[in-house]
Amino acid sequence: MGLHTATGLNRWVKSAKAKTLYARRLNIGPRLVLGFVFIVLSMLAADAAILWQFHLVRTQAERLNGIDQELVAVQRVHTSLLAFHDRLEDLADSQDAGRLVTEGGPLRTAVLEDTRRAMSALSLLPFDLQRDPTILPTLHAVQSALSWQPEAITTLATSGDWRAVHLRLANQVRPLESLTSELVEKVDHEAGEQQAQAVLNVRRVERLVFWVVPLTAVLTLLIATTLGLAITRSITQPLARLVEGSKALARGEFQHQVSVTGRDELAHLGQVFNDTARRLHDLYATLQSSEDRLRLVIDTIPAYAWSSRPDGSVDFINQRFLEFTGRSMEDILGRGWESLVHPDDLARYVGGWQAAVATGEPMENEARVRRADGDYRWLLIRNVPLRDELDNIVKWYGTSVDIEERHRAEEALRRSEASLHEAQRVSRTGSFGWSVSTGEISWSEEASRIFQYDRTTKPTVELILKRVHPEDAVHVKQTIESASVNGKDFEHECRLVMPDNSVKYVHVVAHALSDKSGRTEFVGAVMDATERKCAEEALREAQANLARVSRMTTMGELTASVAHEIKQPISAALINAKTCLRWLGRDQPDVAEAREAAARNIKDVTRASDIISGISLLFKKGALRRELLDVNELIREMIVLLHSEASRYSISIRTELAEDLPKVMADRVQLQQVFMNLMLNGIDAMKETTGGRELTIKSEAGDGQLLISVRDTGVGLPPEQADQIFRTFFTTKDKGTGMGLPISRSIIESHGGRLWVTDNSGRGATFQFTLPRTVAAHA
Ligand SMILES: Nc1ncnc2c1ncn2[C@@H]1O[C@H](COP(=O)(O)OP(=O)(O)OP(=O)(O)O)[C@@H](O)[C@H]1O
Ligand SMILES: [Mg+2]
Repeated sequence: MGLHTATGLNRWVKSAKAKTLYARRLNIGPRLVLGFVFIVLSMLAADAAILWQFHLVRTQAERLNGIDQELVAVQRVHTSLLAFHDRLEDLADSQDAGRLVTEGGPLRTAVLEDTRRAMSALSLLPFDLQRDPTILPTLHAVQSALSWQPEAITTLATSGDWRAVHLRLANQVRPLESLTSELVEKVDHEAGEQQAQAVLNVRRVERLVFWVVPLTAVLTLLIATTLGLAITRSITQPLARLVEGSKALARGEFQHQVSVTGRDELAHLGQVFNDTARRLHDLYATLQSSEDRLRLVIDTIPAYAWSSRPDGSVDFINQRFLEFTGRSMEDILGRGWESLVHPDDLARYVGGWQAAVATGEPMENEARVRRADGDYRWLLIRNVPLRDELDNIVKWYGTSVDIEERHRAEEALRRSEASLHEAQRVSRTGSFGWSVSTGEISWSEEASRIFQYDRTTKPTVELILKRVHPEDAVHVKQTIESASVNGKDFEHECRLVMPDNSVKYVHVVAHALSDKSGRTEFVGAVMDATERKCAEEALREAQANLARVSRMTTMGELTASVAHEIKQPISAALINAKTCLRWLGRDQPDVAEAREAAARNIKDVTRASDIISGISLLFKKGALRRELLDVNELIREMIVLLHSEASRYSISIRTELAEDLPKVMADRVQLQQVFMNLMLNGIDAMKETTGGRELTIKSEAGDGQLLISVRDTGVGLPPEQADQIFRTFFTTKDKGTGMGLPISRSIIESHGGRLWVTDNSGRGATFQFTLPRTVAAHA
């Protein structure tokens, strides 16, 4: 039994599923309408079946009712006939003809009336009523019999023939009674049959109703349930799939697709859902790739980046910052980043950040943050809020860049500025900038101090010229004008007159620069050279004294040679004077010869005088004097002076002097001292040597300068001490002072030239020096 039920259920479920599939071809609206129509029709059919049964019962009742009416009508006829017969019988017995006539008529009418009524009732009965066919003819017979018999009896009674009356009553009325009695029996019998039949029918209907009603109800319920289920399933199943799909979408599973069957609204919805999911999937993929790109950009931009919630807690860090800190994302999120900030900066930075979060204002701050290797680096940190359309902050975005190098550079700059400032103060050197096009001048504190202007006074060319010594003003203006026209570096030295009438020397050096637009700017230094000038003056005097002492020393050593040198012309002059006298003392004085001897005498004395004056010049203490000199002539003079000394040591002096050598502006005595020192050094170097001893003095004109060299074939420079020889007091000689070369170099440099030495490839050394054709004004 259970098995059967299960199989039945199975079949039912299958059929329901089939119906579901079939139903899903229709839209939900028509499907529901059809379902309801079907249920209503089923209920109507059940109701119709029940109504039909009731109709049958009612027909049966109507039939019973007809039969009852028939029975009543027939009985009434029979009863009134009996009453008629009995009354007539009684009247006949009483033999009261009057009464019989009087009463017999209405009685007969009553019987006839009942008979007519019975016939009329029978004619109104339903056609299908099973009726005895003899009833109506019997009633007709009674009716026709009664139509004539009473009058016959009345006639008989009136005639007083009561026997005939009795007879007639017995023969004619009584059979009628029998007839009606039979009729009553027949109808009664028929009524009984009909009643039995009716009872049977009613029972059958009862049974039918008993089965049909619940069956119809169950069937209707079953159909309604099946339809309901099918329709519900056809709606709920796809709905469930759609719900499942929606959940999948909510979970971000955009590849999810719902299965679509049928052609109803839900199938349409399913297709729309699938299309939407596909588009979402594509959109998500696009979004994902653009997010990936964005993430890549965020992770690779040369900055550290993060985002924070409106309450200030960090919720994202870019890869670069993670790499910088060497921490994981979890370590830094929220307020974890605070552990990375330098303890000295933490309170300041956090305070600034909290204030920004509270006010919603963007913030910019600097703080030291610990790097992965433990070093703290200065970062410039910026945080800006992102607001929605209602101006509420939805996010904070922050970036930072490493400004450690900048910080260091700033620190170094600050330090170098401080030290520059200090250096300027100590060295009394100010710096300035001058834009030629705008005429704008800026200067350092020290520069303003040198010019004795207030630090806040804006420097101008006029203010500067106001301080320049009147004698130097023209030159300074020229320098400024030519610099602004040529845009070339310049150097200038001039005097300033201070408000207290004291005089300052300033040395200005300026370097020309071009700014981005090609305009000329000068940057330079202005040095308070007053002290240096005084020191130079003192040095120059000390040097002059030293040089004089040096010359005296040298000359002391050269006394023999010099004496010999002077003695020669004097001896020659003596001989010539004697010769002259002899020529004049002759009897016939030879005037011509005497004049010639006198002329030679003059020449020799002049030479001796020149030597002496040259020597006295060397000893003379006096101010330096620059004049235009012929260096070749000077060389020749020096050769004259040192000729004896060289000869003493078998040294030959050779010259290679350039013709047309330009003159130079120089101090004669100083240059003589240089030549004397270099030539004596050469002679000293050759004193002990074997082989050819030769001192060669060469002069040549170079590019804008003269080049002089003194070459010997001596011992050469002291080994491993060649670089020492220009040092003061360095000497390898027993009686040497070690001052010769330093003084010589100082003299040459003060003339704007250079002095240096090279070892000869063969023997000896060569000293060379240059002299500019035009000597600097200050030298
Ligand atoms: N032509 C030269 N060849 C080799 N060495 C030289 C030459 N000239 C100079 N020197 C070296 O340079 C040294 C320094 O020379 P410098 O003229 O300054 O002093 P000095 O000659 O020693 O002493 P002073 O000049 O007082 O006589 C010399 O002692 C010598 O060693
Ligand atoms: Mg010397």
